[in-house]
Amino acid sequence: MRAVAEARTNIALVKYWGKRDARLNLPAVGSLSLTLDGLTTRTEVRFDAALAADELALNGAPADAAATARVSKFLDLVRARAGRAERARVVSANDFPTAAGLASSASAFAALALAATRAAGLELAARELSILARRGSGSAARSVFGGFAQMHKGTRADGEDSFAEPIESDLDVRMVVAVTTDAAKATLSTDGMRHTMETSPYYAAWVALSDGDLADARRAIAAGDLEALGAVTERSALAMHASALAARPAVVYFSGATVDGYRAVQAMRKAGVPAWFTCDAGPHVKALTDAAHAPEVARRLAEVPGVLRTRIAAPGAPAKVLE
Ligand code: PMV
Repeated sequence: MRAVAEARTNIALVKYWGKRDARLNLPAVGSLSLTLDGLTTRTEVRFDAALAADELALNGAPADAAATARVSKFLDLVRARAGRAERARVVSANDFPTAAGLASSASAFAALALAATRAAGLELAARELSILARRGSGSAARSVFGGFAQMHKGTRADGEDSFAEPIESDLDVRMVVAVTTDAAKATLSTDGMRHTMETSPYYAAWVALSDGDLADARRAIAAGDLEALGAVTERSALAMHASALAARPAVVYFSGATVDGYRAVQAMRKAGVPAWFTCDAGPHVKALTDAAHAPEVARRLAEVPGVLRTRIAAPGAPAKVLE
């Protein structure tokens, strides 16, 4: 009735933006990501017949009602699957500062899916776990796996073909993360996606690019071609943000530091440093590079006005059960 699991966050190289089904959390496009080391969520779940309601503690403090309700809804899926009715106490903590603006629903729901199913007596195969984690957050489906992973959008109405899979690779990549603010993001990804879908004249164009970008990224990984992977990484992020920028009113995740970070990455590339920009539903700058150049990329991004701190992340491990 109790289990502890951990999962790492991931950054999409080919982005997910838009849903084909909001209730089942089915993505409108596939995506391809890198799971990162050193950005880990550890989650304990204990089902207990004596509890009247689900309880959630996040980073040592009781969580607010919205976060507790989101976790409770997810636990309902696990309870239904396991044929259990007990409420649970969930204790979750990140090994990175939550205020770093990197707190991710990806590591959170991957760790919760694994801990909750084990605590409920279920042992799901990785694909089943990915499908379940997707219900909590689309990006969490990818954090079930280590290293590179591809999320399939699937076509089935029940979402059973919408899961992530690991991709083998010899590429020794790094993701340099440059934190630009300690504030929480202004527009949550689910809201930003919905608004982009509903109002952006560029949304259809964004969706139309996805399959080609995924194919190019797969080819680049198979060929060990970091430059080709970097090119698709940068253009996928910029096209995603372009679709959001064209929404009415615009969804703008960039800050001044984001744009300056982008320019710094461009300048590095011009000077022969392999680095490619990416950015998610917040202003932080992320740069894909290789192991040899990661310290220099981090040093240069740290010099960008508005960058508070940087960290270098190597590919991380899959989600795993600890206890
Ligand atoms: O799954 P969510 O709700 O965390 O949305 C992820 C959205 C992006 O981070 C912007 C893109 C992605 O594929 O991770």
